[in-house]
Amino acid sequence: MINVDSTLPKEAFVIPHHYYDDVESVLIPHGLILNRIEKVAQDIANDAQGSLIACCVLKGASVFYADLMNALRKAQTPDRKSIPFSYEFMKVKSYENDKSTGNVQISLSEDELKSYKGKHLLIVEDIVDTGRTMVALLERLKQYEPASVKVVSMLVKRTPESNGYVPDYFGFSVPDYFVVGYGLDYNEYFREMEHICIISDVGKVKYAV
Ligand code: HPA
Ligand code: MG
Repeated sequence: MINVDSTLPKEAFVIPHHYYDDVESVLIPHGLILNRIEKVAQDIANDAQGSLIACCVLKGASVFYADLMNALRKAQTPDRKSIPFSYEFMKVKSYENDKSTGNVQISLSEDELKSYKGKHLLIVEDIVDTGRTMVALLERLKQYEPASVKVVSMLVKRTPESNGYVPDYFGFSVPDYFVVGYGLDYNEYFREMEHICIISDVGKVKYAV
């Protein structure tokens, strides 16, 4: 829906000094992210069928999650009701050398997962790239019989590697570059940068593991 195609010159923005050479350009400025989140939160509130468990997928989604929850707190349904929601945080690891879906590790106990039965879940993710992790996560969560599961991702990447999965809500559709900032990392760097930027070749080499 919102396709970001062009980049903006980094010279036109405040970039942390320590990352200046490590980014090529700005893809989505922080202010635009916040404006878009207001509308995404409103769309979520409009569709909500009851109270939500908002599940943050760590670590990448943490910054987006904080701003989205703040916007959701203020959002109202068409009949001017606010949406009750609770917080949940999970680390999710997909098995890389196994193609079958449903092979995903979630950093929650079996008892915690069982408590999702009959509840409305909202999964909050930073980026859907190939779509494999999300498909596997949804497959796994279904076993615990939640009333509903919806997914909101800040970004969706337009990549030929995509398995076709599209989240229920997303902030921006982005081209096939490696993006960093606003929670998104490259080997744990860049998460604290406020704009979403395209990493430079210098940055890739500097922070390679
Ligand atoms: N940036 C950061 N993390 C990611 C990306 C990306 O472009 N794609 C999948 N994880
Ligand atoms: Mg992620």
